[in-house]
Amino acid sequence: MNNILYEGKSKLVCSGVDENSILIRYKDTATAFNGEKKAELLGKGRLNAEISNLIYAYLCDNGIKTHLIKVIDDTSVLVKKAEIIMVEVIIRNVAAGSFSKKYGVTEGAHLNNVVVEFSYKSDILGDPMINKSQITSLGVATADEIKEMTSLALSINDLLCSLFMKAAIRLVDFKLEFGRSKGEIILCDEISPDSCRLWDVDTDKKLDKDRFRRDLGDVLDGYSDVLRRLKNVR
Ligand code: TMP
Repeated sequence: MNNILYEGKSKLVCSGVDENSILIRYKDTATAFNGEKKAELLGKGRLNAEISNLIYAYLCDNGIKTHLIKVIDDTSVLVKKAEIIMVEVIIRNVAAGSFSKKYGVTEGAHLNNVVVEFSYKSDILGDPMINKSQITSLGVATADEIKEMTSLALSINDLLCSLFMKAAIRLVDFKLEFGRSKGEIILCDEISPDSCRLWDVDTDKKLDKDRFRRDLGDVLDGYSDVLRRLKNVR
């Protein structure tokens, strides 16, 4: 058993095989509203790990540099140790969630352009939204790093929209994290129904963590459906 270095809300971070790697283990815990709502969903870790690994393989095939070194087992991946940049990059293709609430727009409303948002990674502060000049003023990232994360996030959005569309899923919005590794910015953390809004193209049925956040039931049926569909198109 690798030493546990840190326990996150939905993942364990353990020592890796050397000082340049760490092992990430997906947990079955689901949380929302900054950890206020919490439940154990048996099998969620495995589903998210498999979905994220599949997406990472696809992104890697398409030239995106990521932290993934190799898949270890059903719930564990070995990844490069990177210095996590303390901002979450949120991409929105369709209005939903906090955007709809904040600006009074119906969920599902068309957006004239893709929205790029940043939030400051801080559990204590509740991940507040942060703008570019605030990010640079605090020394969280440089202007060049923000530019690069934005450009990477938009490329990843194009790739993911086309992958999910083949699976008859609309990629409504999602969150990405990046890290610094050997002078490069690489994609880190999971891409899964925990970190994306995924709606069935025909029915708008939610297949993501909003089923948990909003008590819609059958949370893992949605996740299993996402995995089954992605397997069919990959
Ligand atoms: P939001 O509409 O609540 O701001 O969420 C936007 C996207 O970011 C959505 O796909 C869910 C994802 N997300 C996370 O991955 N982690 C979080 O802590 C939050 C608040 C959202």
